[in-house]
Amino acid sequence: MIFAGIVAGGSGTRIKHADKPKQFIEIGGVPVLIRTVKAFEDIAEIERIYIGINPDWYDYADRLLEEYGVSTKRVRLVTGGKDRNGTVLNILREITGIFGVNKGDVLLTHDAVRPFISERIIRDNISAALENSACGTYIPSDDTVIRTTDGLTVSENLVRSELMRAQTPQTFEISALCECIDKLGQERLSQLTDTCGIMTECGYPIHIVQGEPMNFKITTDHDLMIAGMIATE
Ligand code: CTP
Repeated sequence: MIFAGIVAGGSGTRIKHADKPKQFIEIGGVPVLIRTVKAFEDIAEIERIYIGINPDWYDYADRLLEEYGVSTKRVRLVTGGKDRNGTVLNILREITGIFGVNKGDVLLTHDAVRPFISERIIRDNISAALENSACGTYIPSDDTVIRTTDGLTVSENLVRSELMRAQTPQTFEISALCECIDKLGQERLSQLTDTCGIMTECGYPIHIVQGEPMNFKITTDHDLMIAGMIATE
């Protein structure tokens, strides 16, 4: 079975002057979270869609799903974690608690705040995870990236052709991810902030799915403004 986990448990502190976390802000008249959920709802092969939500916003999100006619048969809310990875692990626990751990089951994890994800990216993630156990979505870096240790001077110029920026989804074969979680143990797990990192530490290569500029993450007010312009086009 194919599952989607939409992580929406953050508080969006880098967006200023907002009265709610960015995933609930409307762009083109529809909340960001609803746009993201709909993109996954459109893929018939996805059995269930779990949304990780901060407990303080759980009832709000529940009302939002109802208001926008999202089917609660297929889309469910789960309590989010302390960080993004914690939210992913809560979603994974919910799925395995209900469906068990079955070979060939796949979990796509996606940021709620990347509403312009394409069907192609979702489908490529599913195929890559089925073939390789773990994949992520990446886009070549247009800018040269430097490293600095003091924030004042350049320590190193990195080779642009070797650099990619990470987007989501990150997608995993559920049994492989569970095997890695068991192997690493609670202490090490709590130190890892990225789900791909869990798989890497366990020896699984992360395969690259090509991302798209439109699959950008709404992080700042500037991103929110651009997203609003795209959504009203
Ligand atoms: N996220 C989550 N649970 C958390 C923290 C983050 O599900 N405890 C989700 C966010 O809701 C978002 C995604 O992870 O969809 C990417 O994180 P980011 O852009 O950093 O979101 P926020 O943490 O909300 O933003 P900020 O860092 O500006 O506070």
